[in-house]
Amino acid sequence: MNLKDCHNFDDYRKLAKKKLPSPIFHYIDGGADDEVTLKRNTESFNSCDLVPNVLSDVSSVDLSTTVLGQKIDFPLFLSATAMHRLYHHHGERATAMAAEKMGTMFGTSTMATTSLEDIGKLTNGPKLFQIYIHKDRGLTDNLIERCKHAGFNSVCLTVDTVVAGNRERDHRTGFSTPPRLTLSSLLSFALHPRWSLNYLFGGKFRLENIIHMTDKGSSIDKSVIDYINEQFDPSMNWKDAEYCVKKWGGPFALKGVMSVDDAKKAIDIGCSAIMISNHGGRQLDGSRAPFDQLSEIVDAVGDKIEVILDGGIRRGTHVLKALALGAKACSFGKGYLFALGAAGQKGVESILQKMKAEINRDMILMGCKSVKELNRSKIVFRKNYK
Ligand code: LAC
Repeated sequence: MNLKDCHNFDDYRKLAKKKLPSPIFHYIDGGADDEVTLKRNTESFNSCDLVPNVLSDVSSVDLSTTVLGQKIDFPLFLSATAMHRLYHHHGERATAMAAEKMGTMFGTSTMATTSLEDIGKLTNGPKLFQIYIHKDRGLTDNLIERCKHAGFNSVCLTVDTVVAGNRERDHRTGFSTPPRLTLSSLLSFALHPRWSLNYLFGGKFRLENIIHMTDKGSSIDKSVIDYINEQFDPSMNWKDAEYCVKKWGGPFALKGVMSVDDAKKAIDIGCSAIMISNHGGRQLDGSRAPFDQLSEIVDAVGDKIEVILDGGIRRGTHVLKALALGAKACSFGKGYLFALGAAGQKGVESILQKMKAEINRDMILMGCKSVKELNRSKIVFRKNYK
């Protein structure tokens, strides 16, 4: 199996499984506890059906939208995810270049393995920086200042990770960051010599955005989970979020909002967007799927704040359903990380091309010329859906 055999999410996932040592693959693939929410995030899209209109002259379709002040060519962007260097030796460089080439927004993480300055120099495409609030509050100010100088267009603050979720797969596989040879992981590294050699000779694994600020940036004792639990600040509150919004002074998203109450508070503190997200099912298992919460949140705040749907996206039709309910755009993580692990920049370009082509074809089949035509009249919820 190689990249040309990849036609959908599951194919990129399979190829990544083949290419990556198992602790690395399962770190992307896994969720918290029993992974109920992880599965539900995608299943929830099946609770409704699309209703197409025919004979609508769809000879030309405009997929573009504007989100966080940036125009993107199609309504799906790359959610910020950590440590791309684990998945491919070109790390975030590969992902950022693929996003620019495909005309969409690239989100990069506080926990990235390429510095935000390097990303700023590398790409002129729309760039979102994702912040985690550390106990050392100086770090937050420092990151926001650096984002201004590096030419980032927007910032998001992740609010669902004040403590790390219980990712049991990581315990079983012996996942650690940086990857370490342990008895349980030895075989999987030995079985993936190409990944292992690229990892060893492809430049040091470091959390480049924070390496100079915390001594934990280069060697996290046991895992990223320990890092989160030691360094992130569980006392984070609405005042801290408001501080970040003001300090940045530009387009700002709160990521991890799941309730109408919190969506309203996000407006009160001056956010321009919320990302409805449960961190890809990696945090609170048993929490609602973003798609299940979407219409209620859009009804309450959709005319005052941009609503972004993050989580569970596997198909173009998932994006169409979210937009029909009122989302401005969608973002995804696992899909492009599998593609990165499968084939580096080419892999990420390939999955973005596939998703764009799906969205385009689905729009044509729906009889919609522009994403603005996607509305509630295009969707019907099933009555007894379980
Ligand atoms: C995770 C964090 C680091 O989900 O975002 O693993």
